[in-house]
Amino acid sequence: MNLKLFITPFLCATLIVLQSCNTGQPKDIVADNFNFAAQQLEYAISLIPEAISKDSRDSAMKASRPLVSPRTLNEDGSLKVVPAHDWTSGFFTGELWFMYEKTNDPLWKERAIQFTEPLQVLRHHTGTHDLGFMVYNSFGNGYRLTGNSGYREVLLDAARSLSTRYKPGAKIIRSWDHNRDKWQCPVIIDNMMNLELLFWAFKESGDSTFYEIAVNHANTTMKNHFRPDYSTYHVVDYDTITGEVLKKQTHQGYADESTWSRGQAWALYGYTVMYRETGDQAYLDQANHIAEFIFTHPRLPEDLIPYWDFDAPNIPDEPRDASAAAITASALYELSSYNGEDAYRYTQWAGTILENLTLSYRATPGADGGFLLLHSTGAKSLNSEIDVPLVYADYYFLEALLRKEKLTSGKPLF
Ligand code: GLY
Repeated sequence: MNLKLFITPFLCATLIVLQSCNTGQPKDIVADNFNFAAQQLEYAISLIPEAISKDSRDSAMKASRPLVSPRTLNEDGSLKVVPAHDWTSGFFTGELWFMYEKTNDPLWKERAIQFTEPLQVLRHHTGTHDLGFMVYNSFGNGYRLTGNSGYREVLLDAARSLSTRYKPGAKIIRSWDHNRDKWQCPVIIDNMMNLELLFWAFKESGDSTFYEIAVNHANTTMKNHFRPDYSTYHVVDYDTITGEVLKKQTHQGYADESTWSRGQAWALYGYTVMYRETGDQAYLDQANHIAEFIFTHPRLPEDLIPYWDFDAPNIPDEPRDASAAAITASALYELSSYNGEDAYRYTQWAGTILENLTLSYRATPGADGGFLLLHSTGAKSLNSEIDVPLVYADYYFLEALLRKEKLTSGKPLF
């Protein structure tokens, strides 16, 4: 028997229980946050009809791309609701599925189904790499919790759509289609998050093409997106025929040579998934190195909620990114389950992040558009979504809480 695999879940559970004994936090941080989320999500749902009625786009746009789910707040404080084709459209639905997972209440299931349905249009969408975020977080969670065979078909179609973006010459999945004058085949570190959909499709269909695309993409990214200290470039541009790297740049970070905090979080999460799905030690090493970079960084604040970029010029007078922290916490819980020796450190860091998000970053109950967390930053470099609530911060916050609970009670994470 592999003793490490046998002992690790019990060790993790014990450490998590001990850790929550002396924090001054709510007695049950998971229950407390899910109660809060129930209230906030209900409030958000109540605001959606008004946001849709104020949609000022032309009628053709309204008909072809109806608004479906909340993303953030507008500058006037009203709820910003986006169409299915927005990269964030799957997160709100995912949160509703997490509510159902936690409570088993059929009302949350009903709501989750209601918000999942309009995202069906994405199944044949080949214009983005973000299908993992959009379809796996919505239909994927829905399928995991209900076994709905219709969801399975949507997911398989979405995996095929994503695969059309794979460039065999460069062994990479193209991320964006915009800025064609600037980049030939831009790939962003965020793209690691879409591979989970491909692994799922491989396991469901038996088609090894999905597996090969995911592994090739991860290997090419591991080679070209990382600096020697395991910090990440945001954008790497490729020649699609030869695979030559043409540029290494940023789009949402401070500078080409800086480390954009959310990019680092996507990398941590992505290589943790890679280890889960392949068992390849190289991916586990990569995830461990990325974690080390984050948590030994001299400019990571004491509360472990990073500034929007580790190299932002005016630290400590720079906005934080709570979304990067929430993604990191969720990834760390999974990573802890693969690391006997580092499990303690990882669960401690993840626990500290969740405690600080709960104590100091939570939205006002019954306000803030029904979001859970404040103080995220979408893209300061583009002057967009600075120090605001963002739906993906909330999604990974709930996912991290569920993972904490599963580890604590010795349940499997997946
Ligand atoms: N492209 C996803 C993000 O902004 O993190």
